[in-house]
Amino acid sequence: MEEMLSSGENLAALLKWYVDQGLDETIGEEAIDRLAPVAQQVAPEPAVAAAATPTAPTPFRPPAPSPAAAPRAPVPLESPQLVEDARTLAAACNTIDELEAAVRGFESCALKRTAKNTVFADGLPTAPVMIVGEAPGADEDRLGKPFVGVSGQLMDRMMEAIGLKRGDGFYITNILFWRPPGNRTPTLAEQAMCLAFTRRHIELVRPKLLILAGGTSAKAVLDTAEGIMRLRGKWTSVRLDDGTEIPTMPTFHPAYLLRTPASKRQSWQDMLAVDKKLKELSLSS
Ligand code: URA
Repeated sequence: MEEMLSSGENLAALLKWYVDQGLDETIGEEAIDRLAPVAQQVAPEPAVAAAATPTAPTPFRPPAPSPAAAPRAPVPLESPQLVEDARTLAAACNTIDELEAAVRGFESCALKRTAKNTVFADGLPTAPVMIVGEAPGADEDRLGKPFVGVSGQLMDRMMEAIGLKRGDGFYITNILFWRPPGNRTPTLAEQAMCLAFTRRHIELVRPKLLILAGGTSAKAVLDTAEGIMRLRGKWTSVRLDDGTEIPTMPTFHPAYLLRTPASKRQSWQDMLAVDKKLKELSLSS
């Protein structure tokens, strides 16, 4: 009995870990070998498919719907007025300095009460690439700068591998400006308040290219229910108020890569796609 309980607890802990890493959807009951010879991957005739056992894996997955096709259902917020206030404040900011001052002076987000510092951004806003992560952790809270812990160091190395240094190569921020206490999940209202400022941040920076690091960031900025496993590696765009489309690449969060090194190969593909797109954009401008 004790053994059953502890294996149940292990499973619950494993599931929680997957969700924390952004693996929040299942694709099938059984693993599919996508490298198997093509003959094995031919879709069965409908009649054959109907006769198949319910657990038989589907050989083909329909193409992932685009983020626009899978909007999030409207969510009830516990403090809609505070979110509205954040939007109004953010919209009134016409420079990044004004926005930073507005975020630093914003007292309505409960996260601010327990955080040591406001973590706004790092790097030069004139850099071609803007990265949006999730939330400051303990190191970032202590130092008041985003991505300064181990996952930030990995992010720096990945970007340097494509020739982009923090500073004039990329500018980095988060969806949340304050560390959630004990890294708890922020409430929907806390997320929505910060997101109002982050959206304006993207508008004012107008990067050539945007990278969304991790599922939380990708879902929030793209306003989609799709998980990072489906979103990563595919170009999408964020539309600014004036209609400008910013090419946007969702990718794994570096903290996930530290725990799942095998996924670094996919992240490297994403970095190469970013490098290629930047070169195309500078040729065309
Ligand atoms: N993870 C994030 O998403 N942002 C940080 O600033 C640090 C860790």
